[in-house]
Amino acid sequence: MSDFIRKIPKVELHMHVEGSIMPARLLHLAEKNKVKLPYQTVEEVEQAYQFNNLSEFLDLFIKTTEVIQSAEDFHIVTEDYLKLCHTENIIHTEVFCDIRTYLDRGHSAEMVLEGINAAFDAEPEDGISGGVIPCFVRHLGPEIAYQDWQILKNHQDKYLAIGLAAAERGYPASLFKTVFQEIHQSGINTVAHAGEEAGPEYIWSALKDAHVSRIDHGVTCLEDDELVEYLIKHNIPLTVCPQSNVKLNVCGHMSQHPLQELLKRGLNVSIHSDDPAHFGAFLTENLMLIQAHCGITDAQIYAMTVNAAKASFASDGRKAEMLQQLADFVPENC
Ligand code: ADE
Ligand code: ZN
Repeated sequence: MSDFIRKIPKVELHMHVEGSIMPARLLHLAEKNKVKLPYQTVEEVEQAYQFNNLSEFLDLFIKTTEVIQSAEDFHIVTEDYLKLCHTENIIHTEVFCDIRTYLDRGHSAEMVLEGINAAFDAEPEDGISGGVIPCFVRHLGPEIAYQDWQILKNHQDKYLAIGLAAAERGYPASLFKTVFQEIHQSGINTVAHAGEEAGPEYIWSALKDAHVSRIDHGVTCLEDDELVEYLIKHNIPLTVCPQSNVKLNVCGHMSQHPLQELLKRGLNVSIHSDDPAHFGAFLTENLMLIQAHCGITDAQIYAMTVNAAKASFASDGRKAEMLQQLADFVPENC
């Protein structure tokens, strides 16, 4: 593996925490909580992780989240992921979680938020920073999102921002305009998946109707020159997940991913893993893949990592620390 990719301090801004559950942990939690899964072995789980599109993936993703039934389980899952972050030199990570999935099963938002936060809190003083971004499940519609917000607004100190995820087509951010307006009135940051499976109009809607500060994915912006211009003018970060895009057939082979074009156009792009266990690539592997198949250079990886640090919801002090770590990294490695 490239020494540069292995060593560079990394920042992850687009990762669904349950998407980091490796097959062995999935089976362990299923057994612990007496959840019947249609797979008994690691190999069977791996075999099930094949998808033709986002909808097929989400069906399996939601099913596998049934193995999580307590704050302790969330702590275990997040701790596994943070351990892996240490091996990958990830210094800051913001993890998504759809709280509605758990509310609908009779669990509480506290269970989700406190379980995930417990793993971050257990990090040492100079350890990995970050936290959770609860997301609305967009295909459940705006009324459910509004109910989620009524709960989330009582826990504002427990998360970094609020996001919008799940099935995109048919559910533009415009449907969620009112709830996003209220969230902004409370001074909370927002992000939205947009331009993953749907076209540029969904990105416009996330910007103009939901006023989000980052776009998750956003790769279809290239179909609309005016949108590209707007994204550049307003320096809107796009959190791009190349291996996810390949595995969910958003693009063809990795060599056909539009990443070079996004960079050439001058967009604010950074690289992330989305659902690394399901797609077979954590952040480091994503970086290796784009270098191998898209001709992405070390300098481009460096620039995208700086983009991620700046686009994070870390405090100004922590951002300055991360940018200093990156500045210190360059002289010996470039
Ligand atoms: N939830 C988990 N992974 C997702 C993705 N790639 N897009 C939308 N919602 C998701
Ligand atoms: Zn995602």
